[in-house]
Amino acid sequence: MKIAIMGAMVEEIEPLLEYFKDYETIDYAKNKFYKIAYKNSEIVIAYSKIGKVFATLTAATMIEKFECQKLLFSGVAGAINPSLKIGDLIVGDKLCQHDLDITAFGHPYGYVPEGAVCIDSDKDLKSIAFEVAKEKNIELKSGIIATGDQFIADQKRKEWIKGVFEADALEMEGAAVAVVCDALDIPFFILRAISDAADMDASFDFDEFLKSSAKVSAEFIISMVDKIIEADVGNSK
Ligand code: ADE
Repeated sequence: MKIAIMGAMVEEIEPLLEYFKDYETIDYAKNKFYKIAYKNSEIVIAYSKIGKVFATLTAATMIEKFECQKLLFSGVAGAINPSLKIGDLIVGDKLCQHDLDITAFGHPYGYVPEGAVCIDSDKDLKSIAFEVAKEKNIELKSGIIATGDQFIADQKRKEWIKGVFEADALEMEGAAVAVVCDALDIPFFILRAISDAADMDASFDFDEFLKSSAKVSAEFIISMVDKIIEADVGNSK
């Protein structure tokens, strides 16, 4: 089993590299990919750089070049749902692109022909996540995550995204990863820990909480890896 673990920023993968320690570094597509032999499996870790285009490139590379069969994303997000506080974890049930707009042609926001407004993440990976959360007594929320090539630090824009997509959190890569994995039939899982509330304080909060929230997310992903490998062994018996 080959598992990809992606972040967008170096801070989002650092705790993973610290945990797995022994890795081979491969330079490809102006990026670095960290390959780890783990149990009977292989893990490939990379951060894409910020935004949908880099996330698309990295997710596709993880799958096509490194032959990863599942993809886990770990990182931080801005909260839309007021029940989400800094450091809280949210799983993306559905991912959508809030900045995709061809409404001039009568289409809904976030939609292009032959696509879908929202893409569902993998059910099995989600149920593994909820098992882990239960065992570790961690509160894990799930909801709609809206993605766009904008850092949102504006109450009005945040309200708009909430109104149009019923989104609970927002970030800048998840839906791009979802589009790639859906097209290539690769189960994917998007986990985010809250770093800010996408309001006028967002850039300050982001700077303050990026590292600590990224660590919360990465540690949860680490706890999922063993279970994913076990489930795979169970399935192939
Ligand atoms: N990731 C974390 N916080 C964010 C925000 N406010 N906007 C976009 N992406 C984010």
